[in-house]
Amino acid sequence: MKYGFFDDASREYVITTPRTPLPWINYLGCESFFTLLSNTGGGYSFYRDARLRRLTRYRYNNCPLDQEGFRIYIKDGCNVWNPGWQPVQAELDRYCCRHGLGYTVIEGERDGIAARQEFMVPRGDNCLLIRFTVSNGGDETRPLSVFPYLEFCLWDAMDDSSNFQRNYSTGEVEVTASAIYHKTEYRERRDHYAVFWANRPVDGFDTSREAFIGTYSSPAHPEAVFGSGCTGSVAHGWQPIAAQQFDLVLQPGESRSILFGLGYIENPEEEKWESPGIINKSRAEALMAKYADDTAFDAALQDLRTYWEDLLSGFQVSSELESLDRMVNIWNQYQCMVTFNMSRSASYFESGIGRGMGFRDSCQDLLGFVHMIPERARERILDIAATQFPDGSAYHQYQPLTKKGNADIGSGFNDDPLWLIAGTDAYLRETGDWSILDEIVPFDNDPDLARSLMEHLRRSFNYTRTHLGPNGLPLIGRADWNDCLNLNCFSAHPGESFQVSGPSDGPVAESVFIAGMFVKYGRAWADICRHRELEDEAAEAEEAIAGMEAIVLDAGWDGAWFRRAYDAFGHVVGGKECEEGRIFLEPQGMCVMAGIGKESGQAEQALASVQEYLDTPFGIVLHQPAYTRYHLELGEISSYPPGYKENAGIFCHINPWIVCAEAELGHGDRAFEVYRKTAPAFIEDISEIHRTEPYVYSQMIAGKDAVSFGEAKNSWLTGTAAWSFLGVSQAILGVKPTLDGLQIDPCIPASVSGFTLSRRYRGARYEITVENPDGVQHGVKEMLVDGCPLAGNVIPVRDAGSTVQVRVIMG
Ligand code: BGC
Ligand code: NOJ
Repeated sequence: MKYGFFDDASREYVITTPRTPLPWINYLGCESFFTLLSNTGGGYSFYRDARLRRLTRYRYNNCPLDQEGFRIYIKDGCNVWNPGWQPVQAELDRYCCRHGLGYTVIEGERDGIAARQEFMVPRGDNCLLIRFTVSNGGDETRPLSVFPYLEFCLWDAMDDSSNFQRNYSTGEVEVTASAIYHKTEYRERRDHYAVFWANRPVDGFDTSREAFIGTYSSPAHPEAVFGSGCTGSVAHGWQPIAAQQFDLVLQPGESRSILFGLGYIENPEEEKWESPGIINKSRAEALMAKYADDTAFDAALQDLRTYWEDLLSGFQVSSELESLDRMVNIWNQYQCMVTFNMSRSASYFESGIGRGMGFRDSCQDLLGFVHMIPERARERILDIAATQFPDGSAYHQYQPLTKKGNADIGSGFNDDPLWLIAGTDAYLRETGDWSILDEIVPFDNDPDLARSLMEHLRRSFNYTRTHLGPNGLPLIGRADWNDCLNLNCFSAHPGESFQVSGPSDGPVAESVFIAGMFVKYGRAWADICRHRELEDEAAEAEEAIAGMEAIVLDAGWDGAWFRRAYDAFGHVVGGKECEEGRIFLEPQGMCVMAGIGKESGQAEQALASVQEYLDTPFGIVLHQPAYTRYHLELGEISSYPPGYKENAGIFCHINPWIVCAEAELGHGDRAFEVYRKTAPAFIEDISEIHRTEPYVYSQMIAGKDAVSFGEAKNSWLTGTAAWSFLGVSQAILGVKPTLDGLQIDPCIPASVSGFTLSRRYRGARYEITVENPDGVQHGVKEMLVDGCPLAGNVIPVRDAGSTVQVRVIMG
């Protein structure tokens, strides 16, 4: 069942009922100011950091769901309704929500009154803009009152939701003609405030929630709206809000629009005050003046459209498969931008106060983003590297506002260092900008410990090389990619974090997965060394990699698949002797992607085992059998009920590893079969089972052991976005940036007769036509570049600005 449809020409997903299985959201903003916005107008805004600079309040886990947001109430006689249905939930005669790239339009109609809310975050400014248009479609004059409403957060979202004894007394606002300023804590250590404004005179306002909503009422029934209008309240402590009232009289056929804005303003210390106690509003006034009318709004919206058009034009495919094209050309790339910006911080499943930017997460997000804005990827790599420790290990997370490593979680996730090589390698392949390796970057954010990025990568590689266990495999530490496989933790007390309880390291527990990473990204490191003419270092690295490969094929091989790990007692995890957790997906994906056992047959065997034991109609599960009881020696993985999350859920992030692995072996049919099972547009028809947004990936789909098999959770912020884009763009469509140029190596279903693709690469444009006359799955028989045959399939780098015609004949 569907709840909307894709409008590809407009690059929008159009939702046709407000009663979606869950709130279906969009992200507005792609620089510093962000708004999460649901299809009914729920959500919140923040500046840079969802924890430390939250502008508006949001209550997760609320009942009913998704109450807080950017609400407009329309009072039409004794009828009160919202164009987005929530929170009053008055039935609408017509409803539609269009989630577009960086903007959302919500329309509702009731009793001949049509209302439209257009939301966007303009580029270059720190604000959310909302254009509200209301029209009288009937043939009578209609007097209406319109009330916009939002609730402020007292900046630090963690403190805001816990420190009530203080916060109920700190709230402060100022009100001018059509603007409400939220200035809590501005008197002391803050240099920023928020402003909510309208571009026309108001007929009333409220800034105290109690006055507008009522002490025992809710946003579904604001007393001011249902009663006699706004009261002019000025908040002192308690909950500051912004609410306004506009009394309009609409003639038949008449439309009116009001522009609203929510801005974030910073003032330099010496310019904080206009007069004692009165904030300096000059920057806010300039912002309001800039977006004072429809022309400015339209121009900002057009600018956003042009921006996205250009960004997406870097990779556009045209194939026989509509769902493939819309994922690749629009939504997958869009989600890659969102994960790049948010890492795992703020979604409808991530509260914004838990994790900041993840070291491993952000490194992987780069893989799907780097082709869009390489300069921002460059900056990110340097930020991430600055949270590395001198020994090559790394803080697992950092706060986006401060860019400082998060000491609460610390280090000890032993896959982290190698992801830095992965991210940097992707950047080098995309850009050829070798100068990044010479950038001087601190260790542990300490400028006195600064070294070149090249040295950071060296220490990443060496960290893994020198932290080996009894079998010669890498030590796992607190966890590797699977945060929940905690082999050194032994947590027996409720409330303890599985990730940070117990020692950060143990001398025995080893990871076959990290070994696979070491081979894959170690090779990337060796190639980088060779390019820098460090031949000895490259050769030495390759020797270590060859040694590791041999160990994986020995201690890491179980007979029909790769083992997962060795626990703290030296027992196999993910082997045939295990009663539960006999086979795991991660090492099959990573080791085959690394090419381990490709010649000797283990790679084929491992993927056959994946298909036999782990595959389901909704995607591939993490392991089998699921853990049915808590295993102290394995940690969080066995804490989830069977089929959920890391306990044998369909972890979407690593399904594309199997896409890449299958393509590595030339299996185009199977690679595509795996790809399409989790690709949202392909499963739009089962939205009532899947439940999360059909235009973006979710982290997890409940596995076959779960009661709700097929139900997704944790949409938006997941490494699935980057890896799926890599899987489809590089492994399936076969357009692979290398250090020396663009390689074309498609691996597609035999039934696909070809496709065309336009790719921007190092400033040149490649117009690629792939033909598959013999119906093969893999293999390039002939390649013509600008009409001339090319030896091999790597097109040497072309001058920026040039257009290159490429014809690829498979066979
Ligand atoms: C989640 C993981 C997450 C980990 C660290 C676990 O509860 O299941 O997905 O990576 O916590 O925050
Ligand atoms: C989500 C985390 O953000 C990611 O870092 C981790 O690899 C996966 N969960 C698997 O545990």
